[in-house]
Amino acid sequence: MDLAGIGVKMWDEKKIKRFRRALLDWYDKEKRDLPWRRTQNPYFIWVSEIMLQQTRVDTVIPYYERFLATFPTIKDLAEAPEETLLKCWEGLGYYSRVRNMQKAAIQVMEEFGGEFPNTYDGILSLKGIGPYTAGAIASIAFGLPEPAVDGNLMRVISRLFEVNLDIGNPSNRWAFQEIAEILIDPDRPGDFNQALMDLGSDIESPVNPRPEESPVKDFSAAYLNGTMHIYPIKKPKKKPTPMKWRAFVVQDEQGRFLVEKNTQADLLSGFWHFPLIRDFSTIGESIDLFEGVLEESSNYEINQNIPLEVQFESLYRMKLTPIRLLPKSVKHIFSHQRWDIELQYASALGEVKNNSSRTLKWVTKEEMKLLPQSRVQGKMCEILVGQELL
Ligand code: ADE
Repeated sequence: MDLAGIGVKMWDEKKIKRFRRALLDWYDKEKRDLPWRRTQNPYFIWVSEIMLQQTRVDTVIPYYERFLATFPTIKDLAEAPEETLLKCWEGLGYYSRVRNMQKAAIQVMEEFGGEFPNTYDGILSLKGIGPYTAGAIASIAFGLPEPAVDGNLMRVISRLFEVNLDIGNPSNRWAFQEIAEILIDPDRPGDFNQALMDLGSDIESPVNPRPEESPVKDFSAAYLNGTMHIYPIKKPKKKPTPMKWRAFVVQDEQGRFLVEKNTQADLLSGFWHFPLIRDFSTIGESIDLFEGVLEESSNYEINQNIPLEVQFESLYRMKLTPIRLLPKSVKHIFSHQRWDIELQYASALGEVKNNSSRTLKWVTKEEMKLLPQSRVQGKMCEILVGQELL
C-alpha cells in the first residue's frame, strides 16, 4: 500500500517548504524552555524521552534532573544497584522502562565501547528503544532526518491530510511514518520533531484543542474542511480488567510493619509491599492468574468461607489478632488492569515462623520510606497516615 492508495495526496515541494517554515518559525518563538532542550548529549536526551513516555512534561522535569544527578553517565546507569534505580523512578510508574534503560546502558558499554550509538539502526538496537524513541534521539542529538512518530504526531498528521486510518492500530503506523519522512526538515530535524510534539501536546491536544491558534492551520485539510471532529480516527480501547485485592497491614509488638518483596517478573517486581492477596470472591471474573503476586490460584486467592485470619496464617505462617477492615480502599489503574485494594489491619501474635517461600521483613516507618515503593504502596500508606496508623 502507498499513500495514494489510502487517499492521501502529498503536497508539492513548494508547499512542503512553506509548511516547514511556518512550523519552525512558530517553534522558534513559542518553544518551551525544557532542560533536555539545552543539551545535545544523546544519553540525556534518551533519559528525557523515556521519562516522557506516559508522563507529563511538568512531572518529568524534577525526575530528569535527579536521575542525571544520580547517574551522570551511561556507565553510572549500567552499574547502578537495582534499589537505587527504582528509587529514582519512584512515582513515574511503568518500571520496565527504567529496567530496560539499564539493560541498554550495559549494551552501550559492552557493544558500543561506552559511546552512545550515532545511527538510527544502532540506537534502535538498544533494549527498550522503539522507532519513536530512536527517531527522537537520532534527530535531536545527531541531526539525522528521522521522524519521531507517536500519538501526538499521528494526530497532527491525521488532521493535515484527513488520513482515514485508525491511529490506535500499530499496523497503520507506516502511513504516518511515510508522510513524516517527506515533511521533515532535513536542516533541522530535531526542532521539526519537537515542534510537532509541542503542537500535538497543546494546541492540537486530544482534549480541548484550539485549532484556530495552530501555526499550520492553513495546511490542515481537517481544519479547512470542518472535519476536525472526525480526525484522528481512533477506535475506543478495551477497558482495563477489574481486579480485587486484599492488602494485609500487619504490625508486630514493636510497631514495625510486615512487608514482602515481589520477586517475580511482573508489574511490581522488585518492590516491597504489604502482603497482597488477590480476591476473586466478589467480582465475577475468570481466574486469569496475575503472574508474580499470584503463583497458583489455590495459594493466593481469598476463599469467602474461611476466616481471613486463618487464610493469612496458612499463606504467611503467621498468627494474627482479629482483622479489622479499614474504611477506605485503594484504587489504581495500570494500563490494562484496574485494581481495587481493601486494607486489612491486624497485629502479629507470638513468634513468626520462618517462611522460606517468601521474602518478608519487618520495617519501621522510617525504614519503609527507604525501600523502593510503587505508587500502589504509596497510596496504601496515605490511607494509613489518614487513619493515624503510620
Ligand atoms: N515529549 C516527548 N519528547 C518530547 C520533547 N523532546 N519535548 C517535549 N515534549 C516531548
